[in-house]
Amino acid sequence: MPESESWTVGRLLTWTTDYLQRQGASSARLDAEVLLAEALGCQRIQLYTAFHESVSEAARSVFRGLVRRRAAGEPVAYLVGHREFYSLAFEVTPDVLIPRPETEHLVVESLELLKERPESPPPQVLEVGTGSGAIAVAVARHAPACRVTAVDISASALAVARRNAHRHQVADRIEFLQSDLLAALPAEPAFDLLVSNPPYVSGPEWDQLAREVREHEPEQALVGGPTGTEVIRRLVEQADSRLAPGGWLLLEISPMILPAVRGILEEHAVYRNRRIVKDLAGLPRVLVAQVSPAGES
Ligand SMILES: C[S@@+](CC[C@H](N)C(=O)[O-])C[C@H]1O[C@@H](n2cnc3c(N)ncnc32)[C@H](O)[C@@H]1O
Repeated sequence: MPESESWTVGRLLTWTTDYLQRQGASSARLDAEVLLAEALGCQRIQLYTAFHESVSEAARSVFRGLVRRRAAGEPVAYLVGHREFYSLAFEVTPDVLIPRPETEHLVVESLELLKERPESPPPQVLEVGTGSGAIAVAVARHAPACRVTAVDISASALAVARRNAHRHQVADRIEFLQSDLLAALPAEPAFDLLVSNPPYVSGPEWDQLAREVREHEPEQALVGGPTGTEVIRRLVEQADSRLAPGGWLLLEISPMILPAVRGILEEHAVYRNRRIVKDLAGLPRVLVAQVSPAGES
């Protein structure tokens, strides 16, 4: 970034947007704004009223460092240490997947189903593969009667998730547990709802993902095995014995693996009322299934 006496907020944003665009960033203007707000310690919206104000050398130096790392491919969320999900700010570190907007559909569907449940005894929710804790925390915040168990195989991800639960004042209703899928769960309780955004990228797909993802986000959070469905298959197999009669299974999927995951569910007669929820792009994104209610088989 060239030095100058008159680096205002506006000039810095214009210069940096152009620079990041040339480096191939797809949301260069937004990235520039988020990073400048971080360097200045202000909200992004405040930049608009400070457009003609000059920026101190100290703040510019911080900004330069962030822009350099962004240009080298580091995701903005890791650079600033947080990402918004379901209108809540979540801490993110390279130990956790950056929560994606399409995953909010899992929260919306979970909350809809929980509305139909009586509030007492408290509905029991299980999130498998909690990562940053985004889903567990958003559900706990918006369904205050429920109790959540959130598991992850990664101890370092669970540390981030716990901090996010404290940050949003739901730590007393979420129990975090390190577990390979459901293996370490105690025998009780049975769950009314199991929600998961599991790793579902296949080995070959991983090689095709953007460098930004491959080089910075945890592979264990994304890759589900050679076909992408290996973790889902184990999860579906384990889930039916842990869901209460009439309980719900909600899985995030990609359009690519939809036929395979449908096939896996069909192998388990216990899963009824299957339906697909599409995302805002019209793509199949969430698979919902219900285990047979009591008395039905
Ligand atoms: C796609 S990420 C989802 C993270 C977060 N729930 C979200 O939606 O942003 C999948 C998560 O599953 C965890 N995971 C992978 N394999 C697992 C396993 N066998 N048992 C439990 N968790 C697993 C990863 O560590 C990662 O945090």
